[in-house]
Amino acid sequence: MLQGKKIILALSGSIAAYKSVVLLRLLKKAGAEVKVVTTSSVDTFVGELTLSTLSGQPVFSGLWDAGWSEHVALGTASDLMVVAPATANTLAKMAHGLCDNALTAVYLAARCPVMVAPAMDADMYIHPRTAANLAQLAADGVKVLPVGSGFLASGLQGPGRMMEPEDIFAEIEAMFSAKPLAGKKILITAGPTREALDPVRFLTNHSSGKMGYALAEAARDLGAYVTLVSGPVALPAPDGLELLRVESAADMFDTVRTRSAQQDVIIKAAAVADYTPSQVAGQKMKKKDGELSIELKRTQDILAYLGEHKPSHQILVGFALETNNALENARNKLQRKHLDLIVLNTLEDAGAGFGVDTNVVTLIDKHGKEDRLPIQSKKAIAKAILDRIQQHLLS
Ligand code: CTP
Repeated sequence: MLQGKKIILALSGSIAAYKSVVLLRLLKKAGAEVKVVTTSSVDTFVGELTLSTLSGQPVFSGLWDAGWSEHVALGTASDLMVVAPATANTLAKMAHGLCDNALTAVYLAARCPVMVAPAMDADMYIHPRTAANLAQLAADGVKVLPVGSGFLASGLQGPGRMMEPEDIFAEIEAMFSAKPLAGKKILITAGPTREALDPVRFLTNHSSGKMGYALAEAARDLGAYVTLVSGPVALPAPDGLELLRVESAADMFDTVRTRSAQQDVIIKAAAVADYTPSQVAGQKMKKKDGELSIELKRTQDILAYLGEHKPSHQILVGFALETNNALENARNKLQRKHLDLIVLNTLEDAGAGFGVDTNVVTLIDKHGKEDRLPIQSKKAIAKAILDRIQQHLLS
């Protein structure tokens, strides 16, 4: 389950740091790629050589040691950040958004789930400030692991002992089994686009956005960091994801292009206009006698652009709406646009298409595997599409 997962193991200065060496071994043995981040006082407890040797990578501790943007690169490219031991000081900084060292800067840049294993003396742990900081972190979506109670290194007794490394490891495994897309960045486009003719009129299509929104919500529920780029739709904004609203095909292209390189998966469920008026009138067009012709020009094919500029790790998924020669056209589209998977919709199927809550689709992947899914809710279809994407991510 942890094979190939990119995990940041962040240590702050506590005597419990020795337990994190065991956790590091467990994670490495399970196949995870572990990057160790430390605060400056960790060296007093565990040597850098131990951590770099066991992780197989240099330890990141000085904010400027590995280039000025290493914290952003780490924070955005990881599947999980575990802060263990998390001292009262580090927890306070995290809760308040301070970033005066490598650990807190990585935390602020992290888009992956974050787990903290507090470790401190009993008096510090029960102090109302620490309790408030832990509550704040939990409210921010950080998983706060419970502490053990008993003899502490200071000789005192009470709560504050860091969770045992085997138990932290079990929590990490449980998180990845409940949220298999944890840490993955998925961009989904949804809905129609609007192509303005003048300040009051536009060309559009019947797309409701329901399929794209169902995909975004399903990906979020599987733990992914979701960016939903949505054309104008009547659907409520889903919680727990980044929603970017756009109007025209050109807006959608700009928004998607600037974010595409960092995505693990891009799903283009939007019904993007293929043509847009060549001229947009600055004033409302007045009616005149006789016919009116409107000249249209081609829009940028966003999916084709993404296929041409696809990073090797990225999974690119397109949709195809076909009314004739459906399978053949979809297979061609898959190849022509360099996709990993295409979701074919045919309007001929009862229960499929615009506005309805069900759909009938065929999934075709780049290895030639074809699966026609039975009629089911767009939510269930979203789940099936994401299951297939997960298989591609693992292969
Ligand atoms: N698409 C896109 N940009 C466009 C047009 C379409 O990214 N300007 C994407 C859609 O989001 C969808 C896929 O291309 O994922 C297929 O759209 P579709 O309209 O079925 O096909 P086209 O490629 O436009 O080809 P054709 O008009 O020949 O069917």
